[in-house]
Amino acid sequence: MSKSSVSSSVIKRLPRYYRFLGDLCRKGYTRISSRELSEKMGFTASQIRQDLNCFGGFGQQGYGYNVKELHKAIGDILGVNAENKLIMIGAGNLGSAIASHIDFRKKGFKLIGIFDSDPEKCGQEIAGVKVTDVAEIRRFCVANKPICAVLCIPKNSAQYVANSLVDLGVKAFWNFSHYDLKMEHESIIVENVHLGDSLMTLAYGLNNQ
Ligand code: NAI
Repeated sequence: MSKSSVSSSVIKRLPRYYRFLGDLCRKGYTRISSRELSEKMGFTASQIRQDLNCFGGFGQQGYGYNVKELHKAIGDILGVNAENKLIMIGAGNLGSAIASHIDFRKKGFKLIGIFDSDPEKCGQEIAGVKVTDVAEIRRFCVANKPICAVLCIPKNSAQYVANSLVDLGVKAFWNFSHYDLKMEHESIIVENVHLGDSLMTLAYGLNNQ
């Protein structure tokens, strides 16, 4: 199956496989059957086989999956070793929390710059990266060529900032700004993240028990 024909729901499950398999590696598992994996992850065994078959399948009849190899293979598919250069815009409460608590390097990214428009925030250090005045962003992007941006700014400036960053070569956005970005170029990748949506899914569960 070509990469472009893999469904988005399969792609959304890949990080979960990667996380579970990483845990299994740390616990000393060397191999696991799709049945055991399904019991641990809450997917059916056939779902797991179907998902992994999209990438060529990895198990062997009667053996199951080699945990370390499968973990590495899924990591390679996700691109977790890629070190994509990433910048963050907005060093407020959310931006600071994300920069401090997300291990970008383990997920395929390297945080190379944090920008804010508030002079009081500029010069502070978060996760070992100095917060720079957003007025410097053009010069920084030309020199360092970040490919991805995390937006932790108010929604009224999100689209304008994103468009400006596309002009500076940014190709992907992890957008927390409570505004669903609309990009003109199809090639620009956007992940709009709304933590509240996850919470409302929980509300739905309680409401429909
Ligand atoms: P905050 O007010 O603490 O931080 C926002 C920061 O962005 C400030 O430091 C401000 O100076 C900076 N800023 C504003 N416009 C800018 C621009 N054009 N360029 C550079 N920096 C700029 O706010 P907080 O709590 O960090 O939230 C940030 C955004 O994230 C808000 O829009 C909030 O609604 C949203 N949010 C989204 C969540 C989600 O699940 N998606 C969860 C929580 C907050």
